[in-house]
Amino acid sequence: MARLQGVVIGAGDRGLGAYAPYLRKHRDEGRITAVAEPLATRRQAFAKRYDIPADRQFESYEALLAGRRLGDFALIATGDALHVEPAVLAMQQGYHVLLEKPMALCEADCRRLVEVSEKTGRILQVCHVIRYAPLFVALERTIRSGELGDVVAIQHSENVSYWHYAHSYCRGNWRNVAESSPMILAKSCHDMDLLYWLAGAEPDRLSSLARPTELCAENVPDGAPLHCIDGCAHAQSCPYDAVAMYREMLPMLRDLEKTARPMLLGELFRLVRRWRPLLEKMPFEALRKSAHWTGWPVSVISDDVSPAGIDRALRSTRYGRCVYRVGDNDQVSSQTVSVLFSNGVNASFSMHSTSHREGREIRVDGTRGSAVGRFYLLEQRLDVSDHKTGAVRTVKYPLSFAPHGGGDFRLFAGFLAAVRGEAEPVTSARESLQSHLMAFAADRAQREGVVMEFAGGIARPVPPLST
Ligand SMILES: NC(=O)c1ccc[n+]([C@@H]2O[C@H](COP(=O)([O-])OP(=O)(O)OC[C@H]3O[C@@H](n4cnc5c(N)ncnc54)[C@H](O)[C@@H]3O)[C@@H](O)[C@H]2O)c1
Repeated sequence: MARLQGVVIGAGDRGLGAYAPYLRKHRDEGRITAVAEPLATRRQAFAKRYDIPADRQFESYEALLAGRRLGDFALIATGDALHVEPAVLAMQQGYHVLLEKPMALCEADCRRLVEVSEKTGRILQVCHVIRYAPLFVALERTIRSGELGDVVAIQHSENVSYWHYAHSYCRGNWRNVAESSPMILAKSCHDMDLLYWLAGAEPDRLSSLARPTELCAENVPDGAPLHCIDGCAHAQSCPYDAVAMYREMLPMLRDLEKTARPMLLGELFRLVRRWRPLLEKMPFEALRKSAHWTGWPVSVISDDVSPAGIDRALRSTRYGRCVYRVGDNDQVSSQTVSVLFSNGVNASFSMHSTSHREGREIRVDGTRGSAVGRFYLLEQRLDVSDHKTGAVRTVKYPLSFAPHGGGDFRLFAGFLAAVRGEAEPVTSARESLQSHLMAFAADRAQREGVVMEFAGGIARPVPPLST
């Protein structure tokens, strides 16, 4: 097997931890040879973890891409607004590109990326990791096998937990539509991609409705301080208390406690939640350390994830703010999208921000059978039922602690195989364009109250009926 070399652009949360660790486990497949990251602490941490020599550490993608090509592929994990230029430059330099979603923030840039990929002959794969989660792989195969007959309807929901919404879409980087992008693109381009992939046809018509966020100034509880850590009287009753969220990890543990399989795992998380305060008081440092979670989302709020560092972030950053007093957050709190595909598949999608558990639920109903899938943080389960016999086939997937049900590593493995020329990528830049067009259309539909129609790859509002 050819051993590939890759460069990483943007060594933040995803650049450091989502895909690159795969190559530490599968050294025969390749290695990371260079990194571009403006923040010194992140750049150094990355370089240390992946053995990158000093002359291959760059302060920006411009510097890395200015010299000679340093690898076969570029993994681009910069923030949403900084995807297009590095991807274009990298492809023009001859790199195959694995690009984080969303591919771009506007239609013209998405089209530009597709054009450059097709012109240069470089693979441009957008990180639609959900396609690689075992449940969705099995669901797509079930549909294509004909087991469900003709697919009539897809109902899909993205149940964003109240704590994840508060973290990313109220306090975090995606809180403001103008400075980032609408949640239907930022979060749900995965789901638009899933609908398009499962339906197996191009969209024909699309409509959408949304509800604004309730996490705003008019709902501030009486007397709540700007930062939760400054003694909020509502801390015990407020589900969004930042101290409970980042210091104690209570919302996430409560979510994980709902894990039903394997038996007792939920109970284990319950025990962790109960005993964690005791561990914090233990005389041994190792035990005290074990009481502190330092991964996502804590790693996002501060590069210093020590208890003191977290407290500092709770006092001084938006992540510590009262969720009703962030000030400039305007992401919707729920959005529904209806899509009629050109082959007659009628799909409805619901994204909301107040789920007790983080996960997705989907059902696909056809003339011969129904498939119902549940995709939660640690659990995936698919039930396929046959209309004629009534038989139900249940697929339960082994427990996976990997993000997106293991989709991240599978996606990266698939990308490397495509770069080696051993397999076709599961999805192309042109296919990703389609899901992004759906997201742009859904955003416009909900803002302008119009129904969108797709013709010749262009989405336009359906003209109103003349009366
Ligand atoms: N596929 C998925 O399911 C998934 C999940 C989460 C996030 N994402 C996407 O991944 C991307 C990265 O997210 P993140 O949470 O890691 O963000 P992050 O902010 O932690 O990381 C981005 C990094 O890019 C660096 N950067 C900024 N300018 C740069 C430049 N000129 N050259 C090189 N690096 C530069 C930043 O300093 C930062 O460290 C985002 O687009 C996000 O939407 C995808």
